[in-house]
Amino acid sequence: MRILLCGGTGYIGCHAYLVLAARGHEVTIADNFSNSSPQVLHRLETLTESSVNFHRVDMRDRLALAKLFSTRRFDAVVHFAALKAVGESCERPLDYFDNNISGTINLLQAMREAEVRNLVFSSSATVYGDPERLPIREDARLQVTNPYGRTKLVMEELIGDVCRADPAFRSANLRYFNPVGAHESGMVGEDPGGIPNNLMPYICQVAVGLRDKLSVFGGDWPTVDGTGVRDYIHVMDLARAHADALDYLAREDRNLTVNLGTGKGVSVLELVRGFEKASGRNIPYEIVDRRNGDVAEVYADPSLAQRLLGWRAEFDVDAMCRDAWRWQSLNPQGYASLFSTESDRALATA
Ligand code: NAD
Ligand code: UD1
Repeated sequence: MRILLCGGTGYIGCHAYLVLAARGHEVTIADNFSNSSPQVLHRLETLTESSVNFHRVDMRDRLALAKLFSTRRFDAVVHFAALKAVGESCERPLDYFDNNISGTINLLQAMREAEVRNLVFSSSATVYGDPERLPIREDARLQVTNPYGRTKLVMEELIGDVCRADPAFRSANLRYFNPVGAHESGMVGEDPGGIPNNLMPYICQVAVGLRDKLSVFGGDWPTVDGTGVRDYIHVMDLARAHADALDYLAREDRNLTVNLGTGKGVSVLELVRGFEKASGRNIPYEIVDRRNGDVAEVYADPSLAQRLLGWRAEFDVDAMCRDAWRWQSLNPQGYASLFSTESDRALATA
């Protein structure tokens, strides 16, 4: 298939690129680098030993999107492009509505004009808010708890309306739980700008000495050890699900909404211990107040994805920590830890 990855130089997009390229698909990336580095393209080229077809496009630019769709006849689009920081979305909701929702409307219009009718959409467990029941099934109540979450829910709904209006249009909403880890090469991984909002990148930065200690948000949650429980999923398992979802859309005459998680809840302290084991480093931490808007436990029932896609997560917490650590230790400053082409090659063949 000829597949367009919008937001494909981001954390999840670049891992999906590697899986799709390995399956023999012809993949094009579009991104505006608002939260990613051009260095990713260089890393992908090294890893795949072939050039990456890339277009610098902002999803808010309708003309640029139309032009992009005129360069190739795409069979499908995977839509990763979004702003994703919950706290920032509370401070700048309009920017989130503009980037995420307007960008998605533009994309859907460009797809309609170019008659591209297969879409895989990056949704999130955030659409479940504070879950009533665990594990979370896809038919659970949906709830908005912040502007970022609102954009994900609205985007799912917009896509649903387009599917209803055009019965030939197919979509897969993939509700990611907590993606962590990195490609086994350690050449691509998660590179949050500034102070990480999320747990695993924060632990990684403590491990390489960029931060003194981890603040654990709450030690009195009604959980196994009092710390928050989440469903961490290896980014390569997640990436593989995109390829499986594209196969599903090509094969089946129906739309899809599935959870992507392992089904297993892991506490903050369990993840810290897993990381210490994988890295051999001590992770100093301090229990502080709960973070506003947090909930005690979130984990998926991933059985629908297994039934419909034949997909299930394969990597465990040890593998997630091992691969996150490899990425961070090889790239202590993320993509800003500039490697020369030669070092990149050495890394790739190591
Ligand atoms: P990311 O920020 O690393 O990647 C998103 C990419 O989209 C970036 O490369 C960014 O530059 C690009 N982008 C953003 N706005 C754009 C625009 N207007 N035009 C062109 N490109 C644009 O994030 P990620 O972690 O890879 O997440 C990918 C998707 O998955 C997002 O939609 C996110 O909401 C969703 N998601 C992520 C997580 C997570 O924890 N990482 C969890 C659930 C859902
Ligand atoms: C985040 C997003 C959510 C998204 C989800 C999946 C926020 C507020 N929410 O939530 O929208 O759907 O990822 O990617 O960003 N923790 C600490 N110390 C830290 C960071 C986190 O103790 O420095 C704890 C949190 O309280 C939580 C757990 O670690 O219990 C995981 O936090 P995080 O990685 O931010 O993910 P989510 O809270 O699930």
